[in-house]
Amino acid sequence: MPTTSKKRRSNWRIPPKLNAKVSRHTINEQKVFITDKETGGELVSRWMVNLQKRRTTTGEGTTFGLATGSSPVLVYENLVKAYNNGDFTTENLNTINLDEYANLEAGHKETYKQFMKKNLFDDIKLPESQFHIFGSNPHSNDEEDEEIQRINELLKTYPRHLQLLGIGPNGHIGFNEPGKTLTVDTGARVVKLAIATCEANSRFFDNDINAVPTHARTLGIADILAADSIVILAWGEAKARAIQKAITGPVDSLLPASFLQRHKNVAWVIDKEAASILFGKGMRITRSMARMNLYLQKQIPQANQ
Ligand code: F6R
Repeated sequence: MPTTSKKRRSNWRIPPKLNAKVSRHTINEQKVFITDKETGGELVSRWMVNLQKRRTTTGEGTTFGLATGSSPVLVYENLVKAYNNGDFTTENLNTINLDEYANLEAGHKETYKQFMKKNLFDDIKLPESQFHIFGSNPHSNDEEDEEIQRINELLKTYPRHLQLLGIGPNGHIGFNEPGKTLTVDTGARVVKLAIATCEANSRFFDNDINAVPTHARTLGIADILAADSIVILAWGEAKARAIQKAITGPVDSLLPASFLQRHKNVAWVIDKEAASILFGKGMRITRSMARMNLYLQKQIPQANQ
C-alpha cells in the first residue's frame, strides 16, 4: 500500500483575492513576500485570523507576540475589521508584547501599552487579563527585576504561536540593538537604546531626541526565536540595507535580525522599496513579481519612478 504522507499546511498561504498583489520568493531559505503596505496588512492579519481559527477548532488557545511602531499598524487595523465582522474573536486569545520603554509615566501616550490599546486592544475589547506587556515605569531596581521576572514567567505560560516583528534601520528586532556583546540567552532584559533607534523614534516625540527614553525592556533574541512562527514587516527604503544583510549576510550580532536565519518558519513581508537591494544586480524577475509590478504600477505609480 502506498504510504500517504500528510502534507503540512503552510502558514503562509496567499488568499486568491490577494494573489496578484503579492510576489513570493525564497531567499537563503527564508520566505519573502513583496507587496504594498495595505495588502501586507491584510495578508498578515488574515494569517493571524486563520491561525487562531485553526487552533480554536481543536479547542486550543492562541498567543500572539506583538510589536509596536509604524510597521504593524495596518495589520492591527485589519484585525479590528475582522473582529467587527465576527471573523476574529478574543476568546482564548493572549498577547505578549515584545518591548516597552523604561521610565515613561504609565499613561504617557507613547508607552507601548497606550499604543496597543489605541491601535488594537480597545477596539477588539481585549481584557487586561489577556494582554501582557512590561510596565513602563518601575520605581526601583527591585521593581524592575520583578517586572522582568513576571514577563519571563508569562513566556513560559503562554508559548507564542506567531511573533510579529518590525526591524529598525540598524537591523534591531525588539530592542535588541546591534553590538558585539549581543547574545542569544533567553530572558527579558533591560537595554540601552542605540542612538540610531532614538533618532528613528524621535518622530514620535515631537522630533526631540532628548525626549526619547534612553532605556527599554525587551524580549531577547532567543525569546523571539522561541515562537512557533515569525512574521517580520518592513516598509520603505530606510530598511533596505538592514534587510539585505539580515537575509543574505552572515548571522552577526552587529545585525540582530540576521538571527532570524536560525528559525525555520519566518515570513518577511516587505514592500518594493524595502526589497530594493535584496536581489542584487542579477535579479531574476519571477512571473509573480512581474504580475505584482503591474499591480503596483496601476496602484501607486510613484513606486516605479
Ligand atoms: C517595537 C519594536 C521595534 C520596531 C522597529 C521598527 O515594538 O520592537 O523593534 O519594530 O524599531 O519600528 P517601525 O515599525 O516604527 O519602523
